Amino acid sequence: SPIGVPNLSQCQLTTDTSVVPPLTTIHLNCCLPIPSGPVVDYSFDKYKVNTTRVRIAAQTASDDYIAKYREAYTLMRSLPQDDPRSFSTQANIHCAFCNGAYKQEGNDSVILQVHFSWLFLAWHRWYLYFHERILASLLGDPTFALVFWNWDDQRDGGNVIPAMFLPSNSSLYDANRNQANLPPTLVKLVPGITGNDSEIINQNLNAMYQGIVTNDNAELFMGGAYVTGTDLANSTVLNAPLGGSIENGVHNAMHFWTGDPDQPLLQDMGTFTTAARDPIFYAHHSNVDRLWDKWRYGLPGGPRADHSDPDFLNAEFYFYDENANLVKVNVADALDSSKLGYSYPNVAADDLWVNY
Ligand code: C2O
Repeated sequence: SPIGVPNLSQCQLTTDTSVVPPLTTIHLNCCLPIPSGPVVDYSFDKYKVNTTRVRIAAQTASDDYIAKYREAYTLMRSLPQDDPRSFSTQANIHCAFCNGAYKQEGNDSVILQVHFSWLFLAWHRWYLYFHERILASLLGDPTFALVFWNWDDQRDGGNVIPAMFLPSNSSLYDANRNQANLPPTLVKLVPGITGNDSEIINQNLNAMYQGIVTNDNAELFMGGAYVTGTDLANSTVLNAPLGGSIENGVHNAMHFWTGDPDQPLLQDMGTFTTAARDPIFYAHHSNVDRLWDKWRYGLPGGPRADHSDPDFLNAEFYFYDENANLVKVNVADALDSSKLGYSYPNVAADDLWVNY
């Protein structure tokens, strides 16, 4: 049966282990607040906004856009920690559903894990959706939209850390990043690749082509079936047999590349427990989300198909909305991003990897 929402009152410490020596394990309390009000069942109507939020590439953001973005995160960071909308709760949502804070509904012995399977893309789409709504509401600006970190762009300035996330006096900054990878260092979409800039660019384009263009079915691209009882306890970012090519490939590579190698678990971005403590996380995932749409609708050969198994479509998750309510959503409602009220502009440099 499809994954259901967990019992939030049964929460345990999360566990996170390093992927590179020395072997380090950390345990964190990422337990989520339990709102006193009733759970809201998501519907498009209830959450309708009379505007389309356009998520632009981070490297194209104007000074005004950046100022607003900073203000939004300043407001989010200033909320009390136990507020469902606070930056720390937002980061803990990621930690909780990735590092074992909750058991699967109806299955007390198996941990709920939203990575390494077909849940990955839809869960993160919903996560950004509510994160963005909260930021927009804190600003009082319904048009506010996340940016995307256009790391796949190997021509127009996307393939470095976007400047808006760099100033250390800003709410968009995070100290735990790889200091060797500040601009002009180019991103590496495959861990460990070497060479001069043009060699890196070619390998990046190849990684995009392999991960997104050649994997034309849902199983390969999005990941395999994860249902009640599926136990991924021994899956890791380096061993994720059910994970799809977008997740296991360029997505993971960017997490490792951004995280701080002086931290035992490559915190913040390099490990699930702490990844979402870096505001760049949400821009990173915005690009992953954009690439899902690109894969689905924008590649030569016509539209591709998402999974259609009811165990996929009916999987359910919890998030918090901008009014601090707990909301129950399902995968089916995430499949059409236009129904969720946001969009991405066309990116000309996509052609470089699409036609690689
Ligand atoms: Cu939830 Cu990029 O990982």
